[in-house]
Amino acid sequence: MYDKVVESAKYIGDKIGNFNPKIAVILGSGLGNLVDVLEDKEYINYEEIPNFPQSTVEGHEGRLVLGKLKGIDVLAMQGRFHYYEGYTMKEVTYPVYVMQQLGIEKLIVTNACGGINTDFNPGTLMLIKDFINLFGDNPLIGVNDKRFGTRFPDMSEPYKLELIDKAKLLADEIGIDYKEGVYAGCTGPYYETAAEIVAIGGQGADAVGMSTIPETIVANYLGIDVLGIACITNMATGIQKHKHSHEKVVEIAKKASADLCTWVAKIIENI
Ligand code: HPA
Repeated sequence: MYDKVVESAKYIGDKIGNFNPKIAVILGSGLGNLVDVLEDKEYINYEEIPNFPQSTVEGHEGRLVLGKLKGIDVLAMQGRFHYYEGYTMKEVTYPVYVMQQLGIEKLIVTNACGGINTDFNPGTLMLIKDFINLFGDNPLIGVNDKRFGTRFPDMSEPYKLELIDKAKLLADEIGIDYKEGVYAGCTGPYYETAAEIVAIGGQGADAVGMSTIPETIVANYLGIDVLGIACITNMATGIQKHKHSHEKVVEIAKKASADLCTWVAKIIENI
């Protein structure tokens, strides 16, 4: 895998010549607007990158966007790979390995998710304090290549406290409302059952989604600092009275996207 990652990174590196990004952002469903505020953009479709998995899901564009934000080089992933699409955990997290090879030091992960904490509403932005991995799988299982990281990585601070504190300060400064909470990740693709939500809430989760955790695990393993921001697009099953729809999830994410973009842009300028 190491050689494949090097090959992917080399292809990207050769294409982006003048860029030397240290910060990357993974944009969740309906949260792709951040790229609108980037300048001098270059796009690289996933399909043209050697060894990169391909995106299949509707509403998830699959490309890397390189751009500048107030002079800072940023690498954005517009569209991610989900476990429920049938990718292996290694495929889901492959781009994070490539990011590290490209010199990325900080990763901001975003997602759309369901709210379990009843203090939340659809549209709430939640800083992720910690995660609960309910995927029943883990991207680090398998032979460990020490060139990437240690066999038994620490996961006591999956979302870097320093980045969380900075994000809070900046949110207060620019008047963005946010909550904090624990994110539980399930495989999907069905929205959880009501009984599952009771169980997951009882375990200490404030929100539930189908992504983010694999990338967070691998970023930590690779020594990349992570900040996670979740957009609550609906209340989880049994808490909200109506049925879920992907269209509604994307609609709410798009509405919350403006605040999220302003916030993430400010964070990028200040970390
Ligand atoms: N559950 C899981 N994933 C989600 C949800 C949800 O309620 N909403 C958006 N993504």
